[in-house]
Amino acid sequence: MTPLPIVRTVADLRAQVSAWKRAGLRVGLVPTMGALHAGHLSLVTLVKREHDKCVASLFVNPKQFAAHEDLDRYPRDEAGDAALLQSAGCDLLFAPTVDVMYPTGFATAVTVSGVSAPLEGEMRPHFFGGVATVVAKLLLQCLPDAAAFGEKDYQQLLVIRKMVADLDIPVEILAGETVREPDGLAMSSRNAYLTPAQRETAGLLNVIARDAIARIEAGGAISPALSEAKAALAAAGFSPIDYVALHDATTLAEIRTPTLQQAARLLVAAHLGGTRLIDNFAVRSV
Ligand code: PAF
Repeated sequence: MTPLPIVRTVADLRAQVSAWKRAGLRVGLVPTMGALHAGHLSLVTLVKREHDKCVASLFVNPKQFAAHEDLDRYPRDEAGDAALLQSAGCDLLFAPTVDVMYPTGFATAVTVSGVSAPLEGEMRPHFFGGVATVVAKLLLQCLPDAAAFGEKDYQQLLVIRKMVADLDIPVEILAGETVREPDGLAMSSRNAYLTPAQRETAGLLNVIARDAIARIEAGGAISPALSEAKAALAAAGFSPIDYVALHDATTLAEIRTPTLQQAARLLVAAHLGGTRLIDNFAVRSV
């Protein structure tokens, strides 16, 4: 099999995408930072369901890492990622360098207020500015018909939807369901950092979250269900716990009613050793 074609410049990316579009083909984009797993590949499948061609991007975006975070040790394996993408049906990989994305003198930042403020916005204040800036660039560089993002990063998905709507970027945003390991742990590139013992404990995050959700969906009081989930995570060895929180599924406003009256999302961020895990779950109102 011929290897997956790789382009590294915006001109080469646009030349291929516009040739496909001139031929009447529909094109979807899957933006990634590499270290691919089945969650990413499910986004390729999602795109290929309704599009003729899938472009994936691979760019570890320095603008979404703070100085103390894992930019330097973020797993990188372009050849392995390209082989996985090809096996999933991807047609082209866009793998730009930092200089292509942020040439000397780059001076623009995209900021999305509101939905980016709570949760990750409080814990990682640099994060959504970096994500919005790079995703705006990727969408405008590629100009696909659609782009797919995982629900695993639920707040990121809402931030991107808001940015695309506000800036009239003519790209449909598709959401892919979170892909989980057999014990329910959400797949994530950062799971590779976990030791075997931590990996076993990590599976408890979704068990504890689902227990809280069952109580809330049965009409139970929200605040004790969240506090007890935090205590259970702490007892299992998660430390620190950044949040276990219930927010409106669309606006991401914190839910302050004693019991649930609206469609919601339970969002969790907690550390295990040096690894920060995030997850989220739909919660139905009674
Ligand atoms: O979710 C990710 O992998 C990244 O945040 C994204 C969307 C590729 C932007 O760098």
